[in-house]
Amino acid sequence: MAEKIILTGDRPTGKLHVGHYVGSLKRRVELQNSGEFDKIFIMIADAQALTDNADNPAKVRDNIMEVALDYLSVGIDPAKTCIFIQSHVAELTELAFYYMNLVTVSRLQRNPTVKAEIQMRNFETSIPVGFFTYPISQAADITAFKATTVPVGEDQMPMIEQTKEIVHKFNAVYGETLVDPQILLPSNKACLRLPGTDGKAKMSKSLGNCIYLSEAEEDVRKKVMSMFTDPDHIRIEDPGKLEGNTVFTYLDAFCNDGHFAEYLPEYANLDELKAHYQRGGLGDVKVKKFLNNVIQEELRPIRARRAEYEQRIGDVYDILKAGSEKAREEAAKTLAEVKAAMKINYFDTPEFLEEQSKKYSK
Ligand code: TRP
Repeated sequence: MAEKIILTGDRPTGKLHVGHYVGSLKRRVELQNSGEFDKIFIMIADAQALTDNADNPAKVRDNIMEVALDYLSVGIDPAKTCIFIQSHVAELTELAFYYMNLVTVSRLQRNPTVKAEIQMRNFETSIPVGFFTYPISQAADITAFKATTVPVGEDQMPMIEQTKEIVHKFNAVYGETLVDPQILLPSNKACLRLPGTDGKAKMSKSLGNCIYLSEAEEDVRKKVMSMFTDPDHIRIEDPGKLEGNTVFTYLDAFCNDGHFAEYLPEYANLDELKAHYQRGGLGDVKVKKFLNNVIQEELRPIRARRAEYEQRIGDVYDILKAGSEKAREEAAKTLAEVKAAMKINYFDTPEFLEEQSKKYSK
């Protein structure tokens, strides 16, 4: 049977937050521990991060360890999962260069995530070529490891589509070589795109609306207690709205019935709490306190594991170094196959010399 392989990753441009956690990290740990996968790779995408941070390499460098600590603290186990740094695997850039010949400029221009990012970064008039082509480099990341499964957030869907197109094109032109990957999205709708604590659609460091995995208990509590709710829910007895109510979106993403038994036994489940809120008579503070308990319960073991790993940065460094070496070996195998398929493996077999000798011998 074909191997089941996971490849996924994150740009190291900041600490990871609860949106990353419910959107992908939690699932990765479950998949890792399911024992269903033959190989699992998680990549710190520093080269991709540089595509829109060319003038700020220090930011990328500073966040390598942060992201590695975030991975380890949520339960990514280096004995089961290979954690590596993208720029250390030179084969990835080589693969991307060949894939570039299979993608048109107009196709790249249609990528909705890239479009949104260009707008957000005010790149409209001067898009760096590297940034523009990062979906191709992402196809290299995924295919280099023959990934069958790519657990990511919803915003990465266009990258997986682009990867599939490259795989199909490559295999059609050069023969069956690359593996067609499947995206794995969160099944819970609230987890697809967790809003910021201010209710804005996107969590971003500059907006100050993220709850980070590494944040102290009291800071998390403050953020939860000041979360955006229903602005028309002024008095407790007023009926409250759930749409756009960040506290309830977070509850959708984080809580289960067990949390009610533990922290809010007057309700059996979230449906009952929602019904009371909509009817009126339930205050925001009570709901926020409950959410705080739920989130703290989730973050407590993560915080504790992080504190341990922070005491052993040398070990984390070794994990990254060994992981990067292992990843490089894997990617090198695929690159060799790609070059063989493209018949640019001149020195790897006697074929090229034989054929050329024949041609020039009279
Ligand atoms: N684009 C991803 C992000 O912004 C990071 C990434 C790079 C990635 N290469 C990947 C994710 C390959 C999954 C597979 O977080």
